[in-house]
Amino acid sequence: MRIDIVTIFPEYFDVLGVSLLGKARDQGLLEMRAHDLRQWTHDRHRTVDDTPYGGGAGMVMRPEPWGEALDALVPEGESPVLIVPSPAGERFTQAIARELAVEPHLLFACGRYEGIDQRVIDEARSRMRVREISLGDYVLNGGEVASAAMIEAIGRLVPGVIGNPESLTEESHEGGLLEYPSYTKPGSWRGRDVPPVLLSGNHAAIAAWRREQSLDRTRRIRPDLLPD
Ligand code: ADE
Repeated sequence: MRIDIVTIFPEYFDVLGVSLLGKARDQGLLEMRAHDLRQWTHDRHRTVDDTPYGGGAGMVMRPEPWGEALDALVPEGESPVLIVPSPAGERFTQAIARELAVEPHLLFACGRYEGIDQRVIDEARSRMRVREISLGDYVLNGGEVASAAMIEAIGRLVPGVIGNPESLTEESHEGGLLEYPSYTKPGSWRGRDVPPVLLSGNHAAIAAWRREQSLDRTRRIRPDLLPD
C-alpha cells in the first residue's frame, strides 16, 4: 500500500519509521511518504493560508498549493482515496480502517488553522474518492495527529504487517465487544493473583470467562456497543 501525506509539518510523521509500521515500511509492505505542502507554494514567504471570506476568526488554507499537491501526487488515471481529517467529518471506526486497509493508495491531506478551502475537497471529489474523517468528538490543532492515528489503525490491518494475524481477531472493536483483560507471569504480584481459571488448562472455561469479562467491561464502559 502506498500512503502519501501532505502537511506543513512533515516531521510529525517521523513516528512512522518506528516499531511495527517502521518494519513494514522497511519490508516494502507500506510505502509511506510525508510531503511538505510549502513545496507547492511560489511566493517568497511560502504562504499557505489567508483570512476567511465572510469574516471570522482564524485562517483558512488557500486552495492553490493543495491543488498542485494533489496534481503531483495522483498519477493520471488513478483514483486513490483522499482522506481529509476534520472534526466535521464522519467518525473513524475499526470498520472504516478495514475498508481502507484494502486500498492500494491513500492520500492524507492535513489541514491546519480553520481548515482547507472547501473548493479543494469539492474539486478532488470530481476525480477521486474523498472521505472527511474525524478521529473523535474533540478538536485537535490540525490533521497530523489524526492522520498518524488512522495510518497506524489502517496499516496494521494490511496483510503481512502483523506477524500473527490471529492477534487481530480478538481485540477490542473487532468482535463488537471490548477486549477481555490479559495477564502474564508472575502468577502472583504484589499480593494480586492471576485469575485461577487462566491456569486451569480448561480451554472452554477460559473462553467462557473471557467472554463474560468482555461483556462485563462493555456493559460498564461502552454500553452503546451492545445491541438493544
Ligand atoms: N482536526 C482537528 N480536529 C480533528 C479531529 N477530531 N479529527 C480529525 N481531524 C481533526
